[in-house]
Amino acid sequence: MRTPIVAGNWKMNKTVEEARSLVLSMSLKLREIGGVEKVLCPPFPALLAVSAMLQGTGIGLGAQNMHWEEKGAYTGEVAPAMVAEFCQFVIIGHSERRAYFGETDEMVNKKVHAALAHGLTPIVCVGETEDEYASNRTGEVVRRQISRGLADADPAKAATLIVAYEPIWAIGTGRASSGENANAVLADHIRPALADLFGEDTSQAIRIQYGGSVTGANADEFFSQPEIDGALVGGASLKKDDFIAIVQAAAK
Ligand code: PGA
Repeated sequence: MRTPIVAGNWKMNKTVEEARSLVLSMSLKLREIGGVEKVLCPPFPALLAVSAMLQGTGIGLGAQNMHWEEKGAYTGEVAPAMVAEFCQFVIIGHSERRAYFGETDEMVNKKVHAALAHGLTPIVCVGETEDEYASNRTGEVVRRQISRGLADADPAKAATLIVAYEPIWAIGTGRASSGENANAVLADHIRPALADLFGEDTSQAIRIQYGGSVTGANADEFFSQPEIDGALVGGASLKKDDFIAIVQAAAK
């Protein structure tokens, strides 16, 4: 019922020239794969060039962050309208933003509101640290991130939201969660927290991705789980064969 969605988070990698060649190397293959939504999230400077290349391909474009204010004296920040000029998606509250740039659930919430107001689809990241995982606090942490991060989001637009469950200990470590473990976090905590906010029907419509060391080799394990509707992919999204394999696995 929910169309899977695979997004590549390139993080702080690829100059404009490098971005062009990566897109060129995989866009033909990617556009041929049906039954799955595909999104590329390059760094800000490459958005203009990549958006031109993706015209008419059906491949979506996302930014990796944005500010919530409309405009003004926020040196170094990028406004929602600037993102919406090129993108359909925006990643919000990635754990690296939370850990290195002090993003809080309250900031995530303002960004979610701004994204929805500008017609952008937010990909909202949640996930526990290694310590929280070890002390069995995963459920409590992701429920808090969902309830605060998505508080008061427009119920008419809530079904379009995307949530990415990314255990921090699995990001960039090569130590992915298991399909079963990730599915249980979605089933026991994330979807119920979404239902508390938006009701059961809307919670069933919201797509939830898994992220954290997803590769072409382990993608099937995640996508065969009933609650997992795709992936947010970091490292492997920079390797064309791996990313294509992940998108193919989601299409099955
Ligand atoms: P990874 O990153 O796939 O390199 O683990 C995922 C992410 O941070 O979104």
